[in-house]
Amino acid sequence: MEGNAIFQVENVTKSYGGIHALNHVSAIFGEGLTAIIGDNGAGKSTFMKILSGVTKPDDGKFFLKGQPVHITSPVEARRLGIESLYQDLALADTLNVYANMFLGRELVRRIAGVPLLDERRMARLAAETLEQVRINIPSVHTMVRNLSGGQRQAVALARAIHFNASVLLLDEPTAALGPKETDSFNRIIMGLVQGGKTVIMVTHNIPQMMDMANRVIIMRAGNIVAEVRPQDVTQEDVMAFMVGSRTLITD
Ligand SMILES: Nc1ncnc2c1ncn2[C@@H]1O[C@H](COP(=O)(O)OP(=O)(O)OP(=O)(O)O)[C@@H](O)[C@H]1O
Ligand SMILES: [Mg+2]
Repeated sequence: MEGNAIFQVENVTKSYGGIHALNHVSAIFGEGLTAIIGDNGAGKSTFMKILSGVTKPDDGKFFLKGQPVHITSPVEARRLGIESLYQDLALADTLNVYANMFLGRELVRRIAGVPLLDERRMARLAAETLEQVRINIPSVHTMVRNLSGGQRQAVALARAIHFNASVLLLDEPTAALGPKETDSFNRIIMGLVQGGKTVIMVTHNIPQMMDMANRVIIMRAGNIVAEVRPQDVTQEDVMAFMVGSRTLITD
């Protein structure tokens, strides 16, 4: 394991009826980009949803920078510095762009001691941060339900950047993006990685991850079956772990 342990999970378990979506999964995430790869149904999204507070695990312990934490909801996860990006989950459809960015962490101003939402400042800060993300959004006053997949990703990414999250969870973040948007998204992610963030990205794009990730975790049928450094393996090795024709765990 390179770098310091930022985020550690132990024994994370989740069943849906008779389906063991996650089977006593333990992992340590340090600074840099960890890719999570695995076949459809391997448990990747379940894992990300648990880490982001969307899904309650049956069992599991979580530690941030060595301290035990309880990730009870997405709002609590964000308060702990864990931001997540999904196409559909992370945003409130009926709120506009800046209200989504500041959801649960609204800025207030006081007039004669009475707290009021500081709409203007939230709108300005949202617009500034979105500019950094460089994906076009019509206006910060647009309802999120009227945004494209890529634009929604940009809003969630801008939120993570603005609040200086230390852990970023990404579940197939570029699945709905065109090639140009994907490139620009990946560049922003690599910038965050170079800035010392802990990024965990679920993806089906193995060649891209061999290029970008510091570490690749391979999941199969609810288990972590291998943890490798891209430079130590070939794409064929990764595929073999995914489908179960290889089972050796290296690190
Ligand atoms: N809410 C749910 N109710 C019942 N079963 C679920 C639920 N969510 C996930 N599962 C099951 O848990 C298993 C893991 O699903 P998960 O979505 O985590 O897979 P995944 O690795 O993200 O797959 P994909 O690559 O297709 O996104 C699957 O068998 C799935 O059917
Ligand atoms: Mg999934």
